[in-house]
Amino acid sequence: LSITYNPFLPAVRLNPYPVYRDLRATDPVHYSPAAGIWFLTRHEHCAFVLRDRAFSAELGQRLRRREDALPRSMLNSDPPEHDRLRRPVGRELKRWFARSRPRIEGLVDDLLTALARRAEPELMTDFAVPLGHLLIATMLGIPERDLERFRAWATDASVHLDPLAPPERLRVGGIAAAELSEYFSRLIVERTRQPGGDFLSGLASLVRTTGKLSHDEVVATCGLIVVGGCDPTAHLVGNGVLALLEHPRELARLQREPAMAATAVEELLRFDSPIQFAARLATSDVRVGDKLIQRGAAVVALIGAANRDPSVFPRSDDLDLGRAPNPHLAFGSGAHACLGAPLVRLGGQLALDGLLRRFPTLRLGSEPPRWRASLVPRGLAALGVAW
Ligand code: HEM
Repeated sequence: LSITYNPFLPAVRLNPYPVYRDLRATDPVHYSPAAGIWFLTRHEHCAFVLRDRAFSAELGQRLRRREDALPRSMLNSDPPEHDRLRRPVGRELKRWFARSRPRIEGLVDDLLTALARRAEPELMTDFAVPLGHLLIATMLGIPERDLERFRAWATDASVHLDPLAPPERLRVGGIAAAELSEYFSRLIVERTRQPGGDFLSGLASLVRTTGKLSHDEVVATCGLIVVGGCDPTAHLVGNGVLALLEHPRELARLQREPAMAATAVEELLRFDSPIQFAARLATSDVRVGDKLIQRGAAVVALIGAANRDPSVFPRSDDLDLGRAPNPHLAFGSGAHACLGAPLVRLGGQLALDGLLRRFPTLRLGSEPPRWRASLVPRGLAALGVAW
């Protein structure tokens, strides 16, 4: 058996799907001695690892070599601590989301108007990346005057998602994350004194009135939302638009039936997931498939591979915007399933719908799309378009 998963290889990073397919077929619970990690490629196994208590996210995050770079948050906590950190945040997020649709619609519309003015539009810089930043900035109530700084911090700090990031970028990202934390710390104090209608004011009030979360826990939550929210959202739009432009029949289908936007976004999330893997550590000996994973072993659920598993998704390498059901794992699963999913779904649907309405002749530009070097998120550095 000679197949190994080596995410360092540029060819694997550019297109991981052939290796995923071979692994899934021949060695679905694959141990890489070089990495010291189990890589899982079947949907059933990935879902099991994400949902079962035998796998710890707290310990799993230590796989990332720099557990001190981002402060402790719900993402790297296990129950019951995880529930305590997550529940109040989820409640505040729901309340903010329920009244924010008009603002999100306005924000997408403004970005489309700015895009329409570009002579040589590049979808990532001119639309998708600012969309990710603005959605999160609006949610957190970042004042207009701070937006530029916020964008720069978010861009640099997002390096913490990428397990393959080079040391120099990590150093810069660490500084940005620290500055971002300081900034949020001050903003939370401000919002405690003078609450607004944003989600951050809701979180700040939790610290003051109920003591359910500490000041530092709210700061860490904000950092997690910025790092986990901005870039992946941008890459859903980038990867999604590229997939549509490469599948003209599906694109035409969506243009004929805009009501398909909801299933289309799910399918685009499945087809080329911005977050390709989730890491855990086994807390006991566990059998997965025909292998025994030993206590203390590192396990990576390759979400991007699970999402192409033909035993769950018929014709799994085809893009089918009407696919239903679509139990993809792009948002993870179980206790840590993405808290931002409703916001991403709405933002994604509005963005796609708006792009196709405003630019009915949207097509690839003359420059070929350029992929980022990062493993997580998987996404484009540049996507030149024309209309
Ligand atoms: C396309 C965009 C996004 C994708 C693909 C995505 C994907 C994911 C995945 C796979 C996880 C689980 C990680 C794990 O189990 O180890 C996760 C967790 C999380 N996401 Fe997202 N995410 C996206 C956008 C967002 C946004 C916009 C927000 C903020 C509003 C957000 C907030 C979170 C939080 C707070 C968690 C941690 C939940 C927990 O640990 O309980 N995400 N996300």
